[in-house]
Formats: sequence, C-alpha cells, structure tokens
Amino acid sequence: MKLNTRHLLAITDLSQAEVLGLVERAAALKTGWKNGYRPRPLKDKTVALVFQKASTRTRVSFEVAAKGLGGSTIFMTDKDSQLGRSEPLKDMARVMSRYVDALVVRTFGHEVVEELAAQGSIPVVNALTDLSHPCQVMSDLLTVSERLGDVKKPVYAWLGDGNNMAHSWLEAAGVLGFELRLACPLGFMPNPAIVERARDMGARLTITGDPQEAVAGARVVSTDVWASMGQENEAQARRQAFAGYTLDVALLRRAAPGALVLHCLPAHRGEEITEEVLEGPQSVVWDQAENRLHMQKAILEALLGPEE
Ligand code: CP
Ligand code: NVA
Repeated sequence: MKLNTRHLLAITDLSQAEVLGLVERAAALKTGWKNGYRPRPLKDKTVALVFQKASTRTRVSFEVAAKGLGGSTIFMTDKDSQLGRSEPLKDMARVMSRYVDALVVRTFGHEVVEELAAQGSIPVVNALTDLSHPCQVMSDLLTVSERLGDVKKPVYAWLGDGNNMAHSWLEAAGVLGFELRLACPLGFMPNPAIVERARDMGARLTITGDPQEAVAGARVVSTDVWASMGQENEAQARRQAFAGYTLDVALLRRAAPGALVLHCLPAHRGEEITEEVLEGPQSVVWDQAENRLHMQKAILEALLGPEE
C-alpha cells in the first residue's frame, strides 16, 4: 500500500484506513515471511538511521526490516557525524537527501524531525522523540489485532507518565476513535494540545489521577518507564510522584478478565510494572517487541516501495 503522507512523524499523519492497512500489511508480511515470502520493495534503496538516543528494538528492527526488504542501512549518531558538532539541520537534511532514500530519526525535540522533513526531499520517520513514538504504537496495534481482532473495539488503559508513548496512544485513539483511559499523576499529564486534538478527532477519553479507575474493565493495559531517556536525573523524584502506579497483580485484577498487558520495553521491574505481571500469562511484551520488525517493514514498504 502507498500512503498519502510523505513522512511518518505522528500517527495523526495517517488516516484510519492507512493505520488499519499498515496493521493488515504487517500481519501479512509476518505470516508470509515465516512461509518464505520475500518481497524486495526496497531494492537499491538506502535508509539512514540517525539516532541521538539509545535504542535496541527500534534500531535493530528498522535495520533488519530494511535489509530484509532488499535495502541497505547506514547508522549514525551524534558522536560519529557532524550532527554532534552543530551542523544545521537544514544543511544535513539537504545533503542526506542527495545520498539516501529515507531518514529514520530518534531524537529529543520533535522539531528536529519536523525540520528534517521540511528541509529535505526524502521521507522522514519518527523513531521516537520526546513528544511521540508512532512506530511503537503502530506495532502495538498489530499485537492487539493478533489477540483481539478489531483494534477499535477494546477499551485501552494507559498508566503512568503522560509521555511520548501516551501521546502516540492518544493520537491512535483520535485516528481510530477508540476508548482510552489514562491515569497520570498531577504534573505528569499528557500535553493538553494532543489531548484536545485527539478528542476533536473522535477519541473517547478519560483522564484521571486514579490508576484503578483507568484500569477498571480495560481489555488492554499499557505502561512505560517513569523516567524517559533524557530524564535520568529526575528518576528519584519521579519514583515518589508515581507511587501507586505500579502495574501489579492486584491492579491488573481490576481490568477485564484476560486483559492484555503491553510495555514497549525497556522495563524497570519493580517500578512501573512488577516482574510477576511482566512475565505473567497476560503479558504480550515479547510478541509486541517482535512486531516492531513486521511493522517497520510495512512502514518502509509503504513509504519507499514502488508505486502499485
Ligand atoms: N521500545 C523501544 O523503542 O525500544 P528501544 O529504545 O530499544 O528502541
Ligand atoms: N518513554 C520511553 C520510551 C522508550 C522506548 C523513553 O522515551 O525513554
């Protein structure tokens, strides 16, 4: 499938049909791959991964996805490029556009991916910014669809920080119109502009300071670290602020029977989630991590593959 958007900076760049189409295509690639299906839509294409923050899953899944689809990759960080020596983004965007076919970018400020997209002439994919993590939530939707079918139907709960992951869930709720309940402590609520836009788009939202209220009867329960990358020096203060937000067996019991537990990983066992829940029968985190690979393939194919 081809997308109407040239870049994937946020889930709101996609229509509902495109989100569902990518989930369907990722599922088909996953099954097909295991049966020897080897499409090569990225033949002769090069994807540069520009990462200003650490990564295991996103980096490796994008590299393996691009190569699996017949393309090649270049991995760059601040340390080994002129990015770390303050070369203007507009210069980098124009130069890279002459060498490679797409940029997959993990960075701090969201304005970095916006500027690279605006100044270059190749697709830019948000591989996580402080504001959002769209590729992760896209693959989380694949995980939900595998277990529950229709991704628009379940009630979703989000526990903890109103962070980049929470924002992408809000954007998904807006595009798909599903019910999402977020429990965040005061001072750690999601960005009000993203909440408002999601509501305007049709998300059914509850935002509360009570984790039990958010989880009650939910079919999908997600959480994430309390201190994201770049917030390491706030970790101690955040541990105090998030007391009562640990996803443990008692809290999970309030969700719908057999509710799915999602965590994008890496996890801090004993903080936002207990070992028992993360490793327990309701946790789908390993499928969720695997699905990054299949969703990255669907995304790269849709942005870079030949016209149908
Ligand atoms: N979930 C996720 O984005 O993991 P990485 O930081 O390892 O890429
Ligand atoms: N919110 C986390 C997600 C890591 C994949 C972070 O930004 O560090």
